[in-house]
Amino acid sequence: SGFPSLLKNGLSKIGVPSGVLEILFKGVDDVEDYPKIPEAKGAIKAIRSEAFFIPLYELYLTYGGIFRLTFGPKSFLIVSDPSIAKHILKDNSKAYSKGILAEILDFVMGKGLIPADGEIWRIRRRAIVPALHQKYVAAMISLFGLATDRLCQKLDDAATDGEDVEMESLFSRLTLDIIGKAVFNYDFDSLTNDTGIVEAVYTVLREAEDRSVSPIPTWEIPIWKDLSPRQRKVTEALKLINDVLDDLIATCKRLVEEEELQFSDEYMNEQDPSILHFLLASGDDVSSKQLRDDLMTMLIAGHETSAALLTWTFYLLSKEPSVVSKLQDEVDFVLGDRFPTIDDMKKLKYTTRVINESLRLYPQPPVLIRRSIENDVLGKYPIKRGEDIFISVWNLHRSPSLWQDAEKFNPERWPLDGPNPNETNQNFCYLPFGGGPRKCVGDMFASFETVVAVAMLVRRFNFQMALGAPPGLKMTVTRRMKPPIIPEINMEGLKMEGTARILEAE
Ligand code: HEM
Repeated sequence: SGFPSLLKNGLSKIGVPSGVLEILFKGVDDVEDYPKIPEAKGAIKAIRSEAFFIPLYELYLTYGGIFRLTFGPKSFLIVSDPSIAKHILKDNSKAYSKGILAEILDFVMGKGLIPADGEIWRIRRRAIVPALHQKYVAAMISLFGLATDRLCQKLDDAATDGEDVEMESLFSRLTLDIIGKAVFNYDFDSLTNDTGIVEAVYTVLREAEDRSVSPIPTWEIPIWKDLSPRQRKVTEALKLINDVLDDLIATCKRLVEEEELQFSDEYMNEQDPSILHFLLASGDDVSSKQLRDDLMTMLIAGHETSAALLTWTFYLLSKEPSVVSKLQDEVDFVLGDRFPTIDDMKKLKYTTRVINESLRLYPQPPVLIRRSIENDVLGKYPIKRGEDIFISVWNLHRSPSLWQDAEKFNPERWPLDGPNPNETNQNFCYLPFGGGPRKCVGDMFASFETVVAVAMLVRRFNFQMALGAPPGLKMTVTRRMKPPIIPEINMEGLKMEGTARILEAE
């Protein structure tokens, strides 16, 4: 479309307000006969708040599956259309980078797998994905069970003392303990201690969260960085975490050197099944800065997301006692008081649906961020390189045109004998783990982690919103009178499943 629009784009980049540009270039665009993306103007309020994806939902209902949100010289494309989402994430994913996300997270994740683009991403993805093999995931199920059991002991004490519990904080600690062991074999033991390192992790997490919703990047101002007490605290926290990671890497390197290595596809060290151990044993040729960035990325990616998922799940369950009863029936039948194994993951079908449905209503993250690095066409609209794009998973998951009773928590919406919903079988209407080449590498890990936690917790306790509870998830927990375990029933169950499978095969 030539020089005028290049110039307009350039002027816009250096901060000339769009109003002025409209006047300067009036008539220039009009000669081109491509459709113009619907535009919502002046709505900075709409994305400033922490829950910016909520006003975006209202705008979606007004403007549709793709619209431009403009304030001053800045603008974003908001995508809530499944086929456009599929185009960006999968069919033409090479034309998009992580854009703003990489800029915001650089201070903590560097060139880790989530923000990385291009060649670095390709190489790191290829190194890390094999670490999460079947045998690793099976070993993780035991870890999930042990960690959840520690949480159960805490809740048991609370039930005895009649004290309410802050479940949000407990879930955050549970998933931190799990991800530390799973990624680099470190026991944060945050369910029992508040050590410096645990606090450092929270300082960094809060900062990452704040930066992602702050319109002005104050942390980029050089003097501010050194003077602001808060920024100094972040710098110190990062240093502490990096030192711990460096120690862990060094220790693990020594262990790997002493090991009689037989590296193969499903390699796993029984004492230390961590991803770090796999990477070092695989001879992964990588700088220690890159390795640290990847470990930090997985620590953050696998911590708050799972914690939020559990918190929302228990919130939703507290409002639907009938779902809780069905859940407890399944857990009593499949598990009893056993620790779950990988085989149980197939059998805890309803528990899995509860997690699927909780992820639909409260996706983490609620938007996926991209930037176009080539010109492209989205739906019927041509777009230029350099567009910042938010794919609103929140809107897709709650769209009244894509879902029946979209607002309702209804785990039954996917039949128990059908496949688990994912982006492919739901045609990109359901993207809790993203889709395409940048899809979450921890999707199975996270699903099993939360299924194990939910199953073990509802088996032992009843949960209720605490009376007069402020925001958060303060709950009253009471011990559950559990039905006895009758092993014969389990045997029946196995037989029935066997029969069902034979019938299916026919
Ligand atoms: C990427 C969600 C747990 C590691 C992603 C993406 C989503 C997501 C939506 C795609 C981001 C994008 O396309 O921009 C979740 C949710 C989780 C979870 C909802 C828990 C409930 C985990 C865990 C790990 C992990 C436990 C690590 C073991 C990653 C990594 C990426 C990623 C490394 C980047 C992949 C790439 O760009 O190649 N996650 N995640 N996630 N996730 Fe997860």
